[in-house]
Amino acid sequence: MAPMDQPSAPLLTRLADYRPPDWLVPHIALNVDLDPERTRVRARLCVERRGRHGRPLILDGEELELLSLKVDGKEQPLPNHGPLTLAIAGDAATIETEVAIAPAANTRLMGLYASGGNLCTQCEPEGFRRITFFPDRPDVLARWFVRLEADAGRFPVLLSNGNPVAQGILEGGRHYAEWDDPHPKPSYLFALVAGKLRPFRDRFTTRSGRSVDLAIWVAEQDVPRCAHAMDALKQAMAFDEEVYGREYDLDVFNIVAVHDFNFGAMENKGLNIFNARYVLADPATATDVDFDSISGIVAHEYFHNWSGNRVTCRDWFQLSLKEGFTVFRDQQFSASIGSPAVKRIEEARFMRSVQFAEDAGPMAHAVQPDAYLEISNFYTPTVYNKGAELIRMMHRLMGPEAFRRATDRYFAEHDGRAATIGDFLAAMGAEGLDVGRFEPWYHQKGTPRVAARLTQNGGGTVLHLAQSNPPGGEGAPPLLIPLEVALFSPEGELLAPARLVELGEWTKEIAFPDVHGPALLSINRGFTAPVRIEPAPDRATLSRLAACDDDPFARYDALQALMMSALLDSLGAGTEVGHADVVAAVRRTLEQRGQDPAFVAEAILLPSETLVGETFDEADPAAVRAAREALRRSILSGAREELWAAFHESGAPAADLSPRAKGLRRLKGVALSALMAADEHEATAAAFLMFTDADGMTDRMAALVALASSNAVERQEALKLFRQWYGNDPTLLDKWFAVQAGSGRTDTLEAVKALTADPAYDRRNPNRVRALFLSLTGNPARFHHPEAYALLADEILALDPINPQTASRLALALARWKRLIPALGLRMKAELERIAAAPGLSRDVREVVERGLG
Ligand code: PHE
Ligand code: ZN
Repeated sequence: MAPMDQPSAPLLTRLADYRPPDWLVPHIALNVDLDPERTRVRARLCVERRGRHGRPLILDGEELELLSLKVDGKEQPLPNHGPLTLAIAGDAATIETEVAIAPAANTRLMGLYASGGNLCTQCEPEGFRRITFFPDRPDVLARWFVRLEADAGRFPVLLSNGNPVAQGILEGGRHYAEWDDPHPKPSYLFALVAGKLRPFRDRFTTRSGRSVDLAIWVAEQDVPRCAHAMDALKQAMAFDEEVYGREYDLDVFNIVAVHDFNFGAMENKGLNIFNARYVLADPATATDVDFDSISGIVAHEYFHNWSGNRVTCRDWFQLSLKEGFTVFRDQQFSASIGSPAVKRIEEARFMRSVQFAEDAGPMAHAVQPDAYLEISNFYTPTVYNKGAELIRMMHRLMGPEAFRRATDRYFAEHDGRAATIGDFLAAMGAEGLDVGRFEPWYHQKGTPRVAARLTQNGGGTVLHLAQSNPPGGEGAPPLLIPLEVALFSPEGELLAPARLVELGEWTKEIAFPDVHGPALLSINRGFTAPVRIEPAPDRATLSRLAACDDDPFARYDALQALMMSALLDSLGAGTEVGHADVVAAVRRTLEQRGQDPAFVAEAILLPSETLVGETFDEADPAAVRAAREALRRSILSGAREELWAAFHESGAPAADLSPRAKGLRRLKGVALSALMAADEHEATAAAFLMFTDADGMTDRMAALVALASSNAVERQEALKLFRQWYGNDPTLLDKWFAVQAGSGRTDTLEAVKALTADPAYDRRNPNRVRALFLSLTGNPARFHHPEAYALLADEILALDPINPQTASRLALALARWKRLIPALGLRMKAELERIAAAPGLSRDVREVVERGLG
C-alpha cells in the first residue's frame, strides 16, 4: 500500500447511521520497534464476530506501509490501498500485521510523531489508524499488551498505558519495555512515549490503600518546574475520591510534557500527554493564569480516568458525554481550591464571549451534533463548555446528593463499556431529573432567549418569563431553564431572597405576593442557565444592583451589563454619551477592594471588544474600539485617584500563590491597564518599572501587555528585554509573540507580518502558530482589515498540508464573515473563496470553509 494515500473523499458521518461494530477485538498485542525515520509496528489482534452476520472485518489504516498480513497464521496477499477488508470464515480469528510508519515526517501531530527529539503519540479521535490497522472507533474496547523497543541511548525512557511489567537490555545498544493495561479501552486512549526524559516523582495512596507511583516526565532542565502540576494531581486524586467516590485504578500514573501538541492535553489511560505549557510552572516564568490553567487541566485529564476512560463514548457524537461532564468536574475542583465567585465569573465570561459567538455563527451545533465531516472540528466550546453548563444545570436542578447518586449509578452501570449521552441522562432520570424536559438542551443549537419583566398589582409583584428558541430552532420544544432570581428595593434592601425558578414552558408567571412597591430584578444569578436575558435592565437599575446585590457574581454581572449598556448607547447614538454612572459604579467597586480584590478586578474590567461586537448582527470593530477606548478614558479621568491607590496598594509577593495574593496581583494588573488608557507618562513609567522590577511573571506580563498596546517610549525596550531574558523558553517566547499580535496599536498588523519572518516563527509548532494568529484574530480592531484577512488566508493555505487541525482552527475566524459590516465581511468572504478554490484542502479546513460559505 502506498504510504501517501489521501484520506477518502469528504463524506458526512451521521449519528443516525450509527451501527454497533460487526467485529470485536477482545485483545491486542502491539510490538513497536521505534525509530524516528522508520518505525515498525507489529500487531496481533484477536477478533470475534459480534452476532450472526456475514460481513467482513474492516480495519482502519491511514498512511501505513503494510509489510505483512496473516490471518490465523497464514500469509495473505497485500492489498494496496485503503482500509483492510478481510473476509473471515469462522467467528473468531487472529490477525497479525506488520506496518512501517515515519514519525519524523508526521507534521500533523496525529498518530506517532517526533517532538523535540522524543517520540510520542496522539490518537484521539482517529489517530490510531495512523499507527496500525485497527477498528479505530471508540466502541471497540480491547485488553492491551504493548512491547516497545528502541535505541537505549536516544530513547532511555519507554512508556505506555497500564502497568509496567518488564524491561531489559537487548543487543546492539537497544532496550525494551513491556506494559500491560488491565482495563479494556478503545484505540483513542492508546499512547506511547519514548525519549530522554527525567521524572519528577511522588506517590499517592488511595482511600482503599493502593499505592500509586506518580511521575511527570520532562526534559532534565524542566524538572524543577513540575511541583505545581504534581500538587494539582494529588489534590485532584483526593477530590475525585471525596466528591465522586472515584479511586485511581493502576499502580502508576504518568504525565509527559511535549512542546508540539494540537490541543491542551490528552487523557490516555495511565499516561497523560500534555502540551508542556500546561505542565511547567514556577513563579518566575508562569503567570497566575498559567498556574490556574495547569491545575484545571491536570485535574481535567485525571478526572477523565473515570469520565471518559472507565466509561467511554460509544461514538464521537457522544463526545460531550466525557468532555462536558469532565469540564464540569474540573470546574468544581478549581472552585474548591480557589475563589468560587471569580471562577464562576470566568466561566460565564467565556460562555458569553466565545460559546455564544460560536452558537451564533456558521459552526453552530448542538452539544450532541448530528453530523460531521471531520470530528476534530467538534472539540468546541459548545461540546466542552456548554456541555458542562448542561451538567451544571442538572446538578442544580437535582441537588448535590441526588446528582451524586446518579453519577454513582452511571459509573456502576457502564463501567468498562462505551456509553451514550442517553445512558447518562437515564441515570440522572432514575434519581429524579425530568429527562423528557431536559433532554432537548442536547439537541438544539443556538442560545435560547428569556424575556423577563416585573409587573405590580394589588396582590404584589409578578415576574413574567417567556422563552424563545434561537433562529433556526423554530419547532423545537421549550427548554427546562433553571433561573436563580432575587428582588431588591431601589434602596438595595433584599425583598425576595434568591430562589430557583424552573422555567419549563414557553411562558411562566411567578408571584411574589409579599413584594409591594418598586423592585429591582436580579436574574440568572450565578449564570444558572446558558441563556440571554432580555431586555437589559435600564442603566439606573443596573447601577443600583451593581452596588447592592448580596451576591458577588450578580454584582459583577450588573456592573458588566451597565458598562455594556453605556457602550451600546454610545454606539447607537454615534457619539459618546455620558459615562457618569459607569464611573461612579467603578469608583464604588474599587472602594470594596480591601475585602475581595480578585472580585473587584474582574468586576471593573470592561467587556472585551469581542463581546461588545457580538451583540451586533453585523459588527463594526473600529466603532466598537473607539467607543470602548472613550469609556476607558472616562473611567481614567473619573477614577484616577482610586485607580492609582488600587495600583499602589495591591500586589503580592510572587511566591505567594494563595487566592488572595492572586487577587491582589490581578487587581494591580487591571488597575495598571486602566491607568494606561491615555498613555500618560506617569503610567507608562510605572508600567516599565513594574516590568523590570517584577519578582514574578504575573506582574511582568501584566506590565508588558500594558506597554505593548501603548505608544510609550519604554515599549520597544521592554519587548527587547523580554526576548533577551526568555528567548530560550518556548512558552515564554509564545507569550512574546502573542503580546505583540494582541496589541491595540495601529501598527499591529505590520508587526505580525514581520513576526511571521522571525526565525523563531515555526509553522510546524501549533503553540507558536496560535500565539501569533489566534492573538491577532482575537484582537478585533486590528484583525478586521482586508490585509489581515489575506495574511491569515495565506497562513491557512501554507499550514493546511502541514497540520490541518491547526489550520482549521485559524479558518474559524474567516468563516464568521456574515457577522461583520459588509465592507469587511465581503472581503473575508473573498478570502474564504480563495481558500475553497485551493486544490487538495484537508477535510478539516474544507468543513469550516464550506460552512462559512454555505
Ligand atoms: N480529550 C482531550 C481533553 O479534552 C482533548 C484532545 C482532543 C486532545 C483531541 C488531543 C486531541 O482532555
Ligand atoms: Zn477532556
